[in-house]
Amino acid sequence: MTIGWNPVDGVDPGVALKILQQVLATDPGFVGAIESEQIPAVKEVAATVPDGDSILLLGIGGSALGARALVDALVPETSQRLTILDNIDPDSVARTLHQLDLTRTTVLVISKSGGTAETAAQMLRVHQSLVAAGVDADQKIVAITDPQHGTLRELVSARGWRSLEVPPQVGGRFSVLTAVGWLPALLCGVDVDAVRRGALAALTDLRKAGQDHALVRWIDGWRHHHPQRSTVVLFPYRDRLRTFGDWFAQLWAESLGKRLDLSGREVWAGSTPMVARGVTDQHSLVQLFAEGPDDKQYLFLDASMEEEDPPIELHTAALHPQLQYLAEKSLGQLRCAELEGTMAALASAGRPVSKMHLQQLDGEHLGAMMLIWEVATLMAASCLEVNPFDQPGVEAGKAVAFAKMGRDGWQERGAAVTEGAEEAASAPSIPCS
Ligand code: PA5
Repeated sequence: MTIGWNPVDGVDPGVALKILQQVLATDPGFVGAIESEQIPAVKEVAATVPDGDSILLLGIGGSALGARALVDALVPETSQRLTILDNIDPDSVARTLHQLDLTRTTVLVISKSGGTAETAAQMLRVHQSLVAAGVDADQKIVAITDPQHGTLRELVSARGWRSLEVPPQVGGRFSVLTAVGWLPALLCGVDVDAVRRGALAALTDLRKAGQDHALVRWIDGWRHHHPQRSTVVLFPYRDRLRTFGDWFAQLWAESLGKRLDLSGREVWAGSTPMVARGVTDQHSLVQLFAEGPDDKQYLFLDASMEEEDPPIELHTAALHPQLQYLAEKSLGQLRCAELEGTMAALASAGRPVSKMHLQQLDGEHLGAMMLIWEVATLMAASCLEVNPFDQPGVEAGKAVAFAKMGRDGWQERGAAVTEGAEEAASAPSIPCS
């Protein structure tokens, strides 16, 4: 397994190395989870799912993005049997339910806390449709949640649903390399053992890393450019890695964006992730990147693949003299030339540019990359002196929504947020019924 990475120059890789060592010494929950043998239990549950069933995944945030990234990267689109509902837009939910044959659909309900409103509402809506379709819903639902706590775990016990555990010490956005990612990926044909192998190999490599390790150098460069360049643009040049970008964005944003630092001081810390799509966004975002504010760092992401990529034949290119330069060249060659061109253009405009290249787009490389970015996120949090595992900033919005939905015990908290908002903004509000 080889991941090539040419990070931008930093100032003091020794400091970044120390941060890596400190982070690993804390024994992060996701590390313990990868090291423990969870996959056999996942395989047992997977074996109970009928081969012909479609898979409908209900979950949000860390309970959906990792599975999406794994499956998109590793399973050719034609064989995908997975539909992920990570939103509650009634229109998409209804369309999905109409498209699926509910008599032949296994529903994965994934929620670490087991109480997330969106996932709970989806689950009830889907349960209702299963029953309406004459299906024994209890036989079709598999839950992945905390081993002991939460509404979903209680439902597992009460209804006898098949279930798997999210290790209590692993937070939602760090849970891709647990049953949360393993089960949907396995059901779509991903070699999850290879993904785990890759993650373990990357971990071993990090444990013996020196100052020249690419992650150490990348964090060194990131620190050097932060906060002036507080946006990190991840620029995957493979369609199969697009949703890896979404997974990374959630991990980076939710872990680093914090009002308070570890000692309770108000710091409003964070580093904004942005996902650009190569080559497509060369025609939408690169103008801004090259000539707009110098407030971003760029990480290009590429992977080698065995792919069908025939060259354009001479006589085809002869359609027009202006197209001659494409003769006997493949789309892949153009893609690589454009990637190099964009990197060079940004670098020559003085923008910090680095590139990560997976020697092959397979399970081992993806597992390694996911582990590396989970560790990178903890390192960045350590630099910013913030807690990467909480998300207090999303609580206020939840309180208002729960109050509006009439949930017991939330009226006062919801009202406090609404009053604060009214004082802060005098713009008229439009009722949302
Ligand atoms: O990273 C996180 O903790 C969140 O993004 C969660 O994944 C998200 O809120 C869903 O939570 P849960 O898995 O508890 O339903």
